[in-house]
Amino acid sequence: MTQGKKVYLRPFSSDDIPIWSKWFNDLAVVEHMNKGAFPNTDEQQSSFFLAMSESRTDVQFAIALQEENTIIGTVGIHKIDWIHRHGSVSLMIGDKVYWGRGIASEVIGLTVRHAFTKLNLNRLTAGMWSSNLAAKKSFERNGFRLEGTLKGNYFYKDQYVDEWVMGLLRNNWSP
Ligand SMILES: CC(C)(COP(=O)(O)OP(=O)(O)OC[C@H]1O[C@@H](n2cnc3c(N)ncnc32)[C@H](O)[C@@H]1OP(=O)(O)O)[C@@H](O)C(=O)NCCC(=O)NCCS
Repeated sequence: MTQGKKVYLRPFSSDDIPIWSKWFNDLAVVEHMNKGAFPNTDEQQSSFFLAMSESRTDVQFAIALQEENTIIGTVGIHKIDWIHRHGSVSLMIGDKVYWGRGIASEVIGLTVRHAFTKLNLNRLTAGMWSSNLAAKKSFERNGFRLEGTLKGNYFYKDQYVDEWVMGLLRNNWSP
């Protein structure tokens, strides 16, 4: 649907639910996420899939490899506000084998393009734990800048870490 170099973004299908659900039970994948505190079931994932399919304030894509046509993660634009024209990006490369290959950076680029040129949004945000340096860098690579810090908002291992809120205005975006 949305074509990149290494990956493309496509809709999820019900056949994807088992692998999608499995990613959220991988403790390495959810290390810097709220997910993982409670187990994730295929039934929960199925309900989420249906909710996303019907939502007009969320856009959810599967990340698929160009070469193999298999899915390796998910990206979404959530909490879309159609009056003020903003939304929040979240992503997960669920298959760890593909970490560190520039895929998140490419996926964020594709998602930003979709948000600004197809959905006609004016602003995007992204929230992350301050322990998640790879996430921060992949958003920075696409023009997002740190706009705010919520001190000690998340419990990570044996300490509280900050929440970083990053943002990108359409005017500051370089296509
Ligand atoms: C965080 C995540 C999205 C990064 O994806 P990725 O495809 O590995 O990221 P990229 O390969 O595009 O790398 C992005 C940048 O982070 C750097 N990076 C990668 N792994 C890193 C690490 N462990 N620590 C610090 N920097 C790292 C890369 O060098 C790159 O920096 P550069 O732009 O200066 O070259 C991925 O690890 C993931 O999905 N994790 C699980 C879910 C998650 O945490 N999602 C984010 C929630 S906000």
